Amino acid sequence: MYDILETGGQYSSGKGETEILDELHHYNDLYRQAPKQNAMEWMEFLSRKYPATYRHCVRVAILAEKLADGMAIGEEEKKKLVIGCFLHDVGKGLLPTELWNQQASLSPEQWDTLKLHPNAGADLIRTSSELNPDILGIIRHHHEHWDGTGYPSGLKGEEIPYLARICAVLDAFDSMVSEHPYAEMKSLDEAKEELVRCSSTQFDETIVQAFLQLPNSMLGIYMDTSH
Ligand SMILES: [Fe+2]
Repeated sequence: MYDILETGGQYSSGKGETEILDELHHYNDLYRQAPKQNAMEWMEFLSRKYPATYRHCVRVAILAEKLADGMAIGEEEKKKLVIGCFLHDVGKGLLPTELWNQQASLSPEQWDTLKLHPNAGADLIRTSSELNPDILGIIRHHHEHWDGTGYPSGLKGEEIPYLARICAVLDAFDSMVSEHPYAEMKSLDEAKEELVRCSSTQFDETIVQAFLQLPNSMLGIYMDTSH
């Protein structure tokens, strides 16, 4: 679901992004009726609708704080990184529950809908609160790939905002070591190996290297999964 290892960010059902986004907004009464909610209210909404996704966001924010402490990141940047990582999947609150509940793998149309969540999330927050553009950049670009095959914009290398590149690594790592109905959970070391394998294609290699400096003993939030 988190497209950890998915390649190819192109929309595949033949519909344009605007068309799908219109549909997404159409069946979200909340979006139409309460566009002025602030970021925290949208996160509360996400926590009620998709508690597992909300917990993922919390864990990614915790990882961001730990990683920032080991990198040359100033206090202001660190604050933006942690907030952006916490909010990165806020747009998933707008997605239909069928994407989570069905047993079969997703159809191309459902994939297209899922891939809307970065833009949907950034637009949601942009229209409802005054957030720093760097934070919006994390929300909008956390699924871009270093080689340009990600989404929503197909940005490449350093075109991808730096903080979004960090979020991409942490997002993938947490997804790999967490339980999902559709993918086997990896150990911490297996997930780290996978990050290395995908360096320079999906991820910024320098960020992966910085992340690898964090010993497993510092990843306390995953202690029960470090088999
Ligand atoms: Fe995401």
